[in-house]
Amino acid sequence: MKIMNRVIVVSNRVMLPAEKKPEAAGGLAVALLDTLQETSGLWFGWSGDVTLNKEIKTKVRKEKDITFATVDLLKKDYENYYNGYCNEVLWPIFHYRLDLVEYSKIKFENYKRVNNFFALNLKQLLRQEDLVWVHDYHFLLLARELRKLRCTQKIGFFLHIPWPSKETLTALPDHREIIDALLDFDLIGFQTKSHVLTFLDYIISELGGSVEPDGSIFALGKRSKVKHFPISIDTNKIIKLAEGTDNSAQVKRLIKSIKTDKLIIGVDRLDYTKGLENRFAAFNYLLTNHSEHTRSTTLLQIAPTSRGSVFQYREIRKKLELSAGKINSSFGDFDWTPIRYLNKGFQQKSLMGFFRNSRVGLVTPLMDGMNLVAKEYIASQRPNDPGVLILSRFAGAAEELTDALMVNPHDPEGVAGELDKALKMSKKERIQRWINLIDQLHSFNITVWRTRYIEALEASVNTFSTGG
Ligand code: G6P
Repeated sequence: MKIMNRVIVVSNRVMLPAEKKPEAAGGLAVALLDTLQETSGLWFGWSGDVTLNKEIKTKVRKEKDITFATVDLLKKDYENYYNGYCNEVLWPIFHYRLDLVEYSKIKFENYKRVNNFFALNLKQLLRQEDLVWVHDYHFLLLARELRKLRCTQKIGFFLHIPWPSKETLTALPDHREIIDALLDFDLIGFQTKSHVLTFLDYIISELGGSVEPDGSIFALGKRSKVKHFPISIDTNKIIKLAEGTDNSAQVKRLIKSIKTDKLIIGVDRLDYTKGLENRFAAFNYLLTNHSEHTRSTTLLQIAPTSRGSVFQYREIRKKLELSAGKINSSFGDFDWTPIRYLNKGFQQKSLMGFFRNSRVGLVTPLMDGMNLVAKEYIASQRPNDPGVLILSRFAGAAEELTDALMVNPHDPEGVAGELDKALKMSKKERIQRWINLIDQLHSFNITVWRTRYIEALEASVNTFSTGG
């Protein structure tokens, strides 16, 4: 496909090329960098810096055809917009954790102000023919703010996290204003069919809107379009990266240290949505009730800390330290540690090498937009001796990766049963499942994701430039 227009990507996190910190790179950042490397464009977002200086200027730099433009956040915005409304309100609500929401009107006012501030700065960089592609829950209001500034470009939105049920969303006092603003985007993309359906339920039963078979929606006097675009990985790149780790010193050290143990691996940001407490409980259950796995299995859980200024994240960290410590002291021995629990990040290459040498990839979020770790685990495996993916039914990836062992993360006995099954699975069955999974990842890779989205945005009806 030839993209005729310049693509402008907007996301809160921008991964500047010189600053590839593994711990800062969520799936979103990695996916977008890959995308922009293939289309030369502009990436606009937060610099990651917090300032007290009110005169904030956009910093622009160009590298390998990609222009990076970033702005700092005022300290109060970092607190009320990023920590506050984004991570203490929207994040828990969109992940069905109403019990963790810390709502205040001030946070919403601040969120609106920051969306407006980003729109003002972005407008200076836009050309008339640009396609603007906005990412994630930090910028639900950005199209509205750009429209107020008379920007008539096609503007699309893609949500990387789940879309919650109407019952959950309507607990947010600002739900109506947010959806009204969201309808100013020309295209609204979700990760899964299921997220599209929950969104449509809101449009129809809460707003009395209507939907056409092609995904066009009409509500609150506005028109937009909705569709699912499951995000993926650069499958061939990950395969090559993983193959290249067979001689890596770090990977050799890992293999030497686990001796003949079968390795189970989990890699997640330290976040309450990732189900790590439940995962440890399932591992505890496995060691208690399937004792043949003691001393022959190790769980390597890599969980770089995240959003440490938010109370709920500090709490989950404490709980996990306690739980890993308890399991290790109950089951461990002077020459065997059941859980290796690490709060640090690793380079992508090392992680792919770790995946390649793990018999089980354990991906058990309580709720997740997609989860690219599940896809990376599959792409990293050896075709003649692959490991087994255990996947939560609540990860968006479960809609596509149907040959994984599917689990309910709330059921530790069930997860332990699937762990037992995975650890004992015949090579024949492992290979058969893996072939089906890798085929899926070849058919739906990151290029397919990006191309389909941009094509749909180019084809969308822009009611703002036509004055409709
Ligand atoms: C998730 C979100 C991203 C976010 C990333 C890291 O993947 O969907 O938007 O950037 O987590 O979180 P952080 O708060 O550190 O940007």
